[in-house]
Amino acid sequence: MTDQVLIADDGAVRVIRINRPEKKNALTQPMYAAMTRALREAAAAPHIHCIMLAGAPGAFCAGADIGEFLESAQSGALRPRTVEFLHALARNGKPLVAAVGGLAVGIGTTMLLHCDYVVAATTATLATPFSRLGLIPEAGSSLLAPMRMGHARAFALLVMGRPLSAAAAKEAGLVNEVVDAAAVDEVALAAAQEIAALPPGAVAVSRALLRGALDDVVSRIDTETMHFRERLQSDEARAAFAAFLSRKK
Ligand code: COA
Repeated sequence: MTDQVLIADDGAVRVIRINRPEKKNALTQPMYAAMTRALREAAAAPHIHCIMLAGAPGAFCAGADIGEFLESAQSGALRPRTVEFLHALARNGKPLVAAVGGLAVGIGTTMLLHCDYVVAATTATLATPFSRLGLIPEAGSSLLAPMRMGHARAFALLVMGRPLSAAAAKEAGLVNEVVDAAAVDEVALAAAQEIAALPPGAVAVSRALLRGALDDVVSRIDTETMHFRERLQSDEARAAFAAFLSRKK
């Protein structure tokens, strides 16, 4: 159990809140496990019609914990909870809304590609510095991002690591609404309640049709995971993790 992921219901909406603000909501293996459990429990709860992912003020999620990356690079250990979470996210059958109150880095950005409605703060920044870390895109983003925003924009984001402002993310089709940071949770919850009030059977079928073949997404997640594991062991990645962890502020 971890208190770094908080679960609360608001009527038919289950809110899964990442809660490790002192580390900008970077995700550890126990946190991935808690999020997977929360998604599965929401799927099994008939009274829950919509799921909302939220973070802390100023930080939706700073990506995977880089300390854990370094440990796994050194020990060769797998990061099984991450893969389970990505599968649960891709296979999740209930509508997903995200409230992005600030920074969304790495998986903090790529998980948004699995969401149906995203509200971001005017001050939010979306970034995926995979290449700079010696890594490659994950969470099915190598498939989903080009579909969503076209190759040119996906390349600049996922490979060049150029950040997107909230406004640019909206323009690229990643974000639905950009609002004042203080209003993000409230606006996202209102959208989640709007979705939750619709007949859930009709929403589920419509959503599945819009999302298309999930097996392709899961299979891409597995291919990315294979490359990601190799990249984690690379000298490029180890040097980048060590540099981040020993940086002077
Ligand atoms: N993994 C581990 N720790 C992280 C982290 C991550 N992904 N992101 C932030 N943190 C930690 C910082 O090390 C710092 O810890 P400390 O106070 O013990 O030194 C704390 O969170 C606050 O972060 P800080 O860098 O001081 O905040 P900032 O507002 O100046 O910058 C970020 C925020 C997110 C831009 C910056 O922390 C960053 O670049 N993080 C790495 C993001 C990343 O590359 N994620 C992986 C993508 S695959």
